[in-house]
Amino acid sequence: MTNTMKKIGVLTSGGDSPGMNACIRAVVRTGIYHGLEVYGIRSGYNGLINNDFIKLDSHHVSNIIQRGGTILKTARSKEFITKSGREKAYQNLKEHGLDGLVVIGGNGTFTGADIFIREFDFPIIGAPGTIDNDLYGTDATIGYDTALNTVMEAVDKIRDTASSHDRLFFVEVMGRDAGFIALRSGIAGGAEDILIPETETHIDELIAILEKGFRRNKKSSIIIVSEGDDAGGAFEVAAKVKEKYNHYDTRVTVLGHIQRGGSPSSFDRILASTLGYEAVNALLEGRRGEMVGQINKEVVFTPFEKSIKHNKDIRHDLLEMARILAT
Ligand code: F6P
Repeated sequence: MTNTMKKIGVLTSGGDSPGMNACIRAVVRTGIYHGLEVYGIRSGYNGLINNDFIKLDSHHVSNIIQRGGTILKTARSKEFITKSGREKAYQNLKEHGLDGLVVIGGNGTFTGADIFIREFDFPIIGAPGTIDNDLYGTDATIGYDTALNTVMEAVDKIRDTASSHDRLFFVEVMGRDAGFIALRSGIAGGAEDILIPETETHIDELIAILEKGFRRNKKSSIIIVSEGDDAGGAFEVAAKVKEKYNHYDTRVTVLGHIQRGGSPSSFDRILASTLGYEAVNALLEGRRGEMVGQINKEVVFTPFEKSIKHNKDIRHDLLEMARILAT
């Protein structure tokens, strides 16, 4: 390792996700192990702009591996989108003498980092932290597994009451632009159908599935709706179905932000620890402008511009499988 770095920073940005704290811990402790000073920057890129830096020692990250959210707080910075905001951020980084940065976040975070590197040639490595799993270059993002388990448990509970009352439930899950949470939680929860933004939703097809179930005496059903589905959110889809097909007593549940909270699963803790550790090693090796991810258990690096938005394919065959298994 050609270690010329003395000080690095770490921040979390965008929507929080379970496992971000485990990743912060890994960055801090790996940095200290290599003799670096590590600074935490609060509230994402806003902290860079507002000079909100705090020196982190090993004890600052004790007892956080199991905690959801992020001890550094997070934000979607509007100011960092502006050139003057990024200039302020760069001045503050220089003032503190930082030589590199680890950013933990999703699409918006890496888009900002990519622009910043091009403008100021500053070394940044990204760790994928989002429940949405919509980043290319990693099988899973930090927080996705925990969110899936949260949704699955909620769906199990809804199924109890759905079957007791013979009801049809539309359950809305997060994922503005991506259906990963909907698809996998739908399979795990045995949903009768799953609606995702990546495929066109036909209300008539959905009704045909419900009708088939109804005819073979299926008394209750659960439809998972991704919040970004082209047919609308769960309330809208339920209304569209009800207009044409009224055989079921219908209810809607929007799971919302409970999907973002909670103690990270063991999978997320291990992934976050690995990627935080590898992010610091990458900075020390002179890498920059890349997201560190894991594919088939191997650590891989992907340039930011490749990792962001809409590049990761959803497994359409799994949708088909889910339908077959639910009928
Ligand atoms: O990007 C993660 C995410 O949880 C999306 O799934 C969701 O659409 C969005 O954040 C919600 O953001 P906010 O917390 O700002 O409402």
